[in-house]
Amino acid sequence: MKNLIKTILIATVIVLGSCSYKNNESIKPTVCVDTLVSFASQVNPIIEQNCTSCHKSGGTFPNLQGYDNVQRRRVNIVNSIKGENGFTKMPPSGSLNSCEINKIANWVNEGFKNN
Ligand code: HEC
Repeated sequence: MKNLIKTILIATVIVLGSCSYKNNESIKPTVCVDTLVSFASQVNPIIEQNCTSCHKSGGTFPNLQGYDNVQRRRVNIVNSIKGENGFTKMPPSGSLNSCEINKIANWVNEGFKNN
């Protein structure tokens, strides 16, 4: 009888133990901060990761490298990442996520600062 209780207790500890999270990261919700957007730390990295492989200096498509080129084409960029107003959706392989789209659109609405 004692052994049975011991076995049950040990089994319970093992089962409960295996349910605990070792890493809190995995249960944190993802928060999208898409206001007071910075060009250097938010907009440019999205463009660099998703666009400049095609949209670069000397390429076939409009150059989106650096602040000057991005701000000059800001209206078309917002249209294309949303796939609106007759623009082909960019990037062609899929879509930016809604947080990335909102960051770029809000950066334009906030005055497209070089910040
Ligand atoms: C795989 C290559 C590729 C990638 C990556 C890519 N584009 Fe394009 N882009 C194109 C092509 C091809 C066209 C022309 C499409 C058309 O005319 O239908 C284009 C057209 C555009 C245009 C319209 C140009 C104009 O003013 O007429 C904009 C703006 C644009 N892309 C922005 C972006 C943005 C922003 C990203 C990243 C989120 C991106 N593109 C990623 C290939 C790419």
